[in-house]
Amino acid sequence: MSLFRKKNVELMMQASAKGAGLKKALGALDLTFLGIGAIIGTGIFVLTGTGAVQAGPALMVSFLIAAVACCFAALSYAEFASTIPVAGSIYTYSYATLGELIAWIIGWDLMLEYGLASSAVSVGWSGYLQSLLSGFGISLPAALTAAPGALPGVHTLFNLPAFLVMMGITALLSIGVRESTRINNIMVAIKVTVVLLVIGVGAFHVTPANWHPFIPNGWNGVFGAAAVMFFAFIGFDAVSSAAEEVKNPKRDLPVGIIASLAVCAVLYVSVAAVVTGIVPWRQFANIGHPVSYALQVAGEKWVAGFIDLGAVLGMLTVILVMSYGQTRIIFAMSRDGLLPAKLSRVHPRYATPFFTTWLVGIFFGLIGALVPLNVLAELINIGTLAAFSMVSIAVLVLRKTHPDLPRAFRCPGVPVVPVLAVLSCLFLMLNLAWLTWVAFIVWLVIGLAIYFVYSRRHARLAHHPHE
Ligand code: ALA
Repeated sequence: MSLFRKKNVELMMQASAKGAGLKKALGALDLTFLGIGAIIGTGIFVLTGTGAVQAGPALMVSFLIAAVACCFAALSYAEFASTIPVAGSIYTYSYATLGELIAWIIGWDLMLEYGLASSAVSVGWSGYLQSLLSGFGISLPAALTAAPGALPGVHTLFNLPAFLVMMGITALLSIGVRESTRINNIMVAIKVTVVLLVIGVGAFHVTPANWHPFIPNGWNGVFGAAAVMFFAFIGFDAVSSAAEEVKNPKRDLPVGIIASLAVCAVLYVSVAAVVTGIVPWRQFANIGHPVSYALQVAGEKWVAGFIDLGAVLGMLTVILVMSYGQTRIIFAMSRDGLLPAKLSRVHPRYATPFFTTWLVGIFFGLIGALVPLNVLAELINIGTLAAFSMVSIAVLVLRKTHPDLPRAFRCPGVPVVPVLAVLSCLFLMLNLAWLTWVAFIVWLVIGLAIYFVYSRRHARLAHHPHE
């Protein structure tokens, strides 16, 4: 039964009320910005091209499908986030409801999500930076532009810009959340402005004939693209990882999660409509900067340049929020004894998990430098979708096991909404490649091995069963 031992929800809430070490500095607007900062990135700026080739103009529908799946999951998230506001996101929530083993699996999935997402976005960032620099006639030695094997026919060794950007972001995070969120807010403003520019200027160059036929590759194309474009929405959940550093979590967390998701959904569908309206969808094959490319095709060279610049700046915040979420999950798992204690040590001056931040930054920086983007993206989606399904199940369980727990935000339409969340996440997972499933299962097996060899015996709950 110890596999299913649970944290005491009431005690967790008391500890959170007292403040367990991290600074409480964030409000609702900070969180919405943190969410948008995490969401808009490589998905819309880079993967839109792949999605358009797969779904045609119906990419708009693919975005909607992914958004709806996220929305169901977000409502479940928001209920949890407003009930148990402690660091560690759904890992912590599930520890209190579904027990230790499931919590470990979820935490392990989240490491896949946040860690690899920061690597993947650093790769996307590197591509846009190089495109921007080439506008000024600057180019790097080919060996340092991409991971080995990433570019067919080119001898590449190490993605240096991707690695360096991870080091810069890691330095910011390691000195404290306040400084980092202030920078995040500025970047988000730039990124949203750039996306609005794409929509505002691009709309005047749309040729409606490009939208016909609307579904050139059938519904399989639309669903396949939805499973990939889901990546573009990942990040709203990073808001809940910041729970312990929020001033008024009961009100601010649900507002932050839902507001950031809604804003991005509207922007994405509009961008998809505009770019597939300007450029016939087939032309997006092998275009690494599809959004600025559409504006180039429209003859708006200056706007295209701004988009390149905005993408470079905007993707910084995605790396920042993903790395942030990652360190906080490891922090929480370490504090619970599931990972070594050194990983939850808080820096005396900066009040951040300094050591963990650098460890994670260097590790995932190297992954970004050495592994191609396409390999990373699908893995991230499957890990995230699995975690989202589990949190939705957890909402249902918590309603049954702790019906009287105060919930500042209640997920509407229980049990229908959480059940729809599980079904839509599973549906997207089934639309991913089988090789992704294999890799995901290998990852889970490694995680379970660590759990049974180390974590189970070192868990705080093994020694303090009433916590
Ligand atoms: N949603 C994030 C992005 O698109 C991960 O870059």
